Amino acid sequence: MLTKSETGSPRKPKQGVAIRTSDILAMCTALSILLLSIPTTSIAAAPTGDAMCIACHSMKMNKALEDGDQLSLHISSTDFTESVHGKFGCASCHSAIAKGPHPKPAAISNKRDYSVAANDSCKNCHKGMVRSYQKSIHASLVAEGNQKAPLCTDCHSAHSIQAKETLATVTGQPCKGCHEEIFTAYSQSVHGTARENGNVIRASHIQAPICSDCHSAHDISAVAASEKLKSACIDCHPEAKAAHQKWLPNSELHLTAIACPACHSPMAERRVDLQLYNNVKQSPVAQSDDIEFQKRLQDLDVAGDGLDPMELWNLVRQTNQDGEAVNITLQGRVEVSKGIDSHRLANKGAAVRDCQSCHQNGANAFNSVTVSIAKPDGRKQRYVANSDVLSSAVSVESVSNFYAMGGTRIKLLDGLLILAIFAGVAVPIGHIVLGKILKKIR
Ligand code: HEC
Ligand code: HEC
Ligand code: HEC
Ligand code: HEC
Ligand code: HEC
Ligand code: HEC
Ligand code: HEC
Ligand code: HEC
Ligand code: HEC
Repeated sequence: MLTKSETGSPRKPKQGVAIRTSDILAMCTALSILLLSIPTTSIAAAPTGDAMCIACHSMKMNKALEDGDQLSLHISSTDFTESVHGKFGCASCHSAIAKGPHPKPAAISNKRDYSVAANDSCKNCHKGMVRSYQKSIHASLVAEGNQKAPLCTDCHSAHSIQAKETLATVTGQPCKGCHEEIFTAYSQSVHGTARENGNVIRASHIQAPICSDCHSAHDISAVAASEKLKSACIDCHPEAKAAHQKWLPNSELHLTAIACPACHSPMAERRVDLQLYNNVKQSPVAQSDDIEFQKRLQDLDVAGDGLDPMELWNLVRQTNQDGEAVNITLQGRVEVSKGIDSHRLANKGAAVRDCQSCHQNGANAFNSVTVSIAKPDGRKQRYVANSDVLSSAVSVESVSNFYAMGGTRIKLLDGLLILAIFAGVAVPIGHIVLGKILKKIR
């Protein structure tokens, strides 16, 4: 919502274009010729000052950039007048050009740098949106020099910006252009098809989500900060917690240790990710220097075949030595191996509910393991580990927070628990017994 304070009270920008007398003379000849070739209807619709800009810029002109590229200077006057800013005029964003003599050849190094600089104009009127975007992973990537991460105009365009209602449709979502495979997977998912068919959750008015409903549009976080995404699911599906409790013992723990798509995207390959976690700060360990961490991993994993239990133990020990009062362990989570599979959610009948698909020796999800650390931009840097880090006695200390019996550590306990589960008395008894025995062992 565009509030007064965000826009600095939506400025009705100056509609005239300030041009010096000396320039007018020079331009007059050019313009009188140009105006003949321009459809008068579009000029009539634009504010008078813009007519002059459009007179030149509706022509097919290019400007040579320093990197050898060509910048097209053509602007469609119809698109512009029909856009949300049509009534405010060119000068509302290009105030510098409107004030001085123009065209004044000024060197532009490349398209991207020009675009980055020109995008700065949005903040004059949309402070709130800009602040929110600045917190996003996209903005961090832009700051890191990623040329492919979106600026405002990559999602909105510069000269044919439409109202938000247009963007809130499946076809109007601007994410598709860059995340095409995910978009296709999403379109075929339970949400994509429900959105297309106009389904809502039962009798309520809640529509099925598109990209920005789960990720938000501006303040998009790295997905490794998964709590935000999980709460997006629960916000729309508040009944889900109770629904899982009916058949899944200790469902709270399961819903923490397993990403929703790991069960709801039934065909997906799964893996266990062990994230370095600081138990004193109660937050994931954030690396300040990726190169340093990468080097440490390579030094530890001499053979280059993934971390084995001893190497993993050493990693945790060395990370513990970094800070003063730290207590670092690994926090385990079952997740889908490929981000795209998070978007293949199926209807509930297809979801994984078979206990043995996880609680069994050699269960597929436990054969693929990564160790991860949070990068400065919030994304995870992952490193492959051997699956025996989950079952080895060496790992008991470092991986103690994560214990899925059956697939894992102490065979005798696994056996007991599996018996208990299948005898149908698992939940309370199994839990208590296991808790006690594990405490003793540690
Ligand atoms: C990654 C794509 C993306 C980027 C980058 C982006 N937007 Fe948006 N913007 C959207 C989408 C999608 C909507 C539609 C509303 C929604 O889903 O929240 C939107 C809505 C808006 C709205 C109307 C929102 C409202 O609630 O009133 C404004 C204003 C806006 N964007 C301005 C900006 C500005 C300024 C920037 C740059 C700082 C920017 N946007 C960057 C995708 C983007
Ligand atoms: C809402 C702000 C805004 C308005 C209004 C606006 N522009 Fe732009 N313009 C931009 C931005 C931002 C860029 C940088 C290119 C990009 O990011 O796509 C740009 C780029 C340009 C360029 C360089 C070529 C290009 O497309 O990159 C020309 C020429 C131009 N604008 C002319 C105009 C004219 C003429 C008008 C009025 C008819 C106008 N602009 C209105 C924001 C605006
Ligand atoms: C007399 C024709 C003419 C008029 C009128 C005109 N332009 Fe231009 N414009 C050009 C030419 C030619 C260039 C390329 C200049 C160069 O090569 O450096 C240009 C370049 C631009 C650029 C690209 C960035 C840059 O600085 O080179 C923008 C943005 C732009 N014009 C916006 C506008 C706006 C806004 C107006 C109205 C206030 C306007 N122009 C009026 C001819 C014109
Ligand atoms: C001079 C002030 C000004 C500048 C600069 C400006 N805008 Fe706007 N923008 C507005 C106003 C005012 C509206 C509301 C128009 C309306 O309601 O008809 C608006 C509307 C929008 C909307 C539609 C919002 C909605 O609620 O549907 C988007 C998206 C948007 N602007 C994006 C941008 C982007 C991106 C830039 C920079 C390239 C930009 N604006 C620069 C004043 C500005
Ligand atoms: C129903 C909610 C939901 C919708 C709708 C959704 N996503 Fe996601 N997205 C997720 C979840 C959950 C993850 C994985 C988070 C995790 O690893 O825990 C994810 C991951 C991602 C990733 C990271 C992929 C990777 O390789 O790690 C990107 C990029 C992404 N989504 C973009 C999109 C785009 C673009 C759309 C629209 C076409 C979209 N998402 C729609 C929930 C959603
Ligand atoms: C101009 C291209 C572009 C557009 C448009 C775009 N993105 Fe992105 N996005 C990227 C790039 C580049 C990355 C960096 C990661 C990568 O390479 O996939 C990224 C990363 C992300 C991530 C973080 C993935 C992670 O690993 O944690 C999410 C989530 C995301 N985008 C969602 C969206 C959503 C939602 C939209 C639409 C509202 C959108 N993107 C529009 C280019 C784009
Ligand atoms: C261990 C696997 C598993 C995990 C993890 C899981 N689910 Fe489920 N979920 C299921 C199964 C199986 C069903 C179907 C139960 C049934 O048919 O009664 C289901 C049902 C649902 C339903 C339909 C509820 C209803 O009203 O019947 C929703 C919504 C749902 N899950 C959302 C989620 C969300 C959100 C998460 C993550 C916070 C999640 N699930 C995590 C397996 C899982
Ligand atoms: C904006 C609201 C919204 C968000 C956010 C959302 N959903 Fe949904 N979800 C829906 C709607 C609407 C349906 C379709 C209901 C229908 O068609 O019966 C649905 C359907 C489902 C179903 C199928 C239920 C069934 O009865 O078969 C599952 C499973 C599901 N969502 C899981 C998730 C997960 C996991 C997330 C987060 C990653 C999530 N949803 C985020 C609104 C949402
Ligand atoms: C998608 C994989 C998956 C499925 C399916 C699954 N679990 Fe689990 N379960 C786990 C993981 C992972 C843990 C360990 C969580 C941890 O220690 O952080 C766990 C933990 C448990 C625990 C120990 C809880 C505690 O308090 O320590 C019990 C009991 C259990 N599961 C029973 C079941 C039963 C019964 C089913 C079938 C109805 C089931 N699980 C289905 C992955 C799964």
